[in-house]
Amino acid sequence: MTQPITIEDARGALNAVFSEATAHQDRIRCAQLAATAFGKSLSPEGYLDREAYLAEQPLARGGGWRWWYLALADDPEQVVAMCKTMHRDLLVRDGPAAGGEEVVVRQEQGYCICSVVTASSHRGRGLASVMLKAVAEWLDGPGNATASILYSDVGDFYVSKGWDMLDSFESTLTVPASLPSTEQPPFPETHPITAADIPRLCERDVESLKEDFQKYGLPKEDAVLATILPTTDMITWLQARIAYMNRQSDGTTPDAKGSVCESADAWLFWFPDLRHGKLTIQRAKLPRGRDEAASTRALARLLLDAVEEAARWGMSEVDIWNPGPELHGAMRLLSSELGIKVTNQKREKEHIPCLRWRGGEKKSVVFSPNEFYPWS
Ligand SMILES: CC(C)(COP(=O)(O)OP(=O)(O)OC[C@H]1O[C@@H](n2cnc3c(N)ncnc32)[C@H](O)[C@@H]1OP(=O)(O)O)[C@@H](O)C(=O)NCCC(=O)NCCS
Repeated sequence: MTQPITIEDARGALNAVFSEATAHQDRIRCAQLAATAFGKSLSPEGYLDREAYLAEQPLARGGGWRWWYLALADDPEQVVAMCKTMHRDLLVRDGPAAGGEEVVVRQEQGYCICSVVTASSHRGRGLASVMLKAVAEWLDGPGNATASILYSDVGDFYVSKGWDMLDSFESTLTVPASLPSTEQPPFPETHPITAADIPRLCERDVESLKEDFQKYGLPKEDAVLATILPTTDMITWLQARIAYMNRQSDGTTPDAKGSVCESADAWLFWFPDLRHGKLTIQRAKLPRGRDEAASTRALARLLLDAVEEAARWGMSEVDIWNPGPELHGAMRLLSSELGIKVTNQKREKEHIPCLRWRGGEKKSVVFSPNEFYPWS
């Protein structure tokens, strides 16, 4: 797929070509541009090495990870803008139609757009805008995307391009200098999640999300409930990425991928970022079939496991995106009973999730859960 693009502005005419980077050399040129904006902690060679390693991950294989770019028409080796699209499995449910028709939960194709960058010499000429327009056309056509998501670090730049910002909240648990004793009052038993546990837990998580979607009460008839499924490929992608980054900076990476409380059918996948000294909760699978107080204690124990893991590796905080009422209840318990400091805030600047429905259609979308795991 190639598409010629012409931009006329005060700096003159600029002729470029939009294409998908499939040839190895084109990908290297794209990665060299991306490294200027997103590879600051790696050498240019290190960035290329990481991208080659990530391309081998299950989520990226078979067209799961596509690279798009604009090159100058008269100098095709000069890449002036690029971005990537990554496959996501969407779960979608429309509000019940008037007349009480049966609720249908569907699994559909979605994408995450990431690494959007324009060469600094060519910024402010509309290149990122035209590239995103061309990518959106691909998403709506051959990509067969019901929706796409991206995480903005550049304010509302993407809003005028058709992506709507979603609310994004974050809670932070500060790792205390000395860990509290947990003998009194008692908490349920938990154990660490290893890489081998991920597939079976993800399968259970996906199944229970589908059941939850059936029961969810949508606020309006024309509203849509959507989320990205926490599949094994999705969870292991970020685990592989962070393990690579940890090994580059610290020569090691923690083995535990999270913690599970089997008796409550609840677990946390986490993301130990040694470079930034924080542990991020990737996904929180909430307890089922228990009374509220027992559920809160199970979640509190899991969060405490995250705090203890962070302390073990010298990290200073545990972050969690968009915790719901159950997790807030658990954090209040940790704060009141064990003195763990919890801060809640609205994220305004970094990683703001933005969502675009097929064809730019404006829908009233409830995006839940909206956690860290689909971030790229
Ligand atoms: C953001 C970026 C891709 C824009 O590329 P570009 O080709 O200059 O974009 P365009 O010329 O199409 O559009 C320029 C617009 O981007 C806005 N913009 C650029 N950088 C911005 C920033 N850091 N914060 C907010 N807005 C920004 C400009 O204000 C302008 O807004 P307008 O469309 O309302 O006039 C480019 O600045 C870049 O590569 N930045 C570094 C990498 C980055 O931060 N990428 C985004 C990650 S989410």
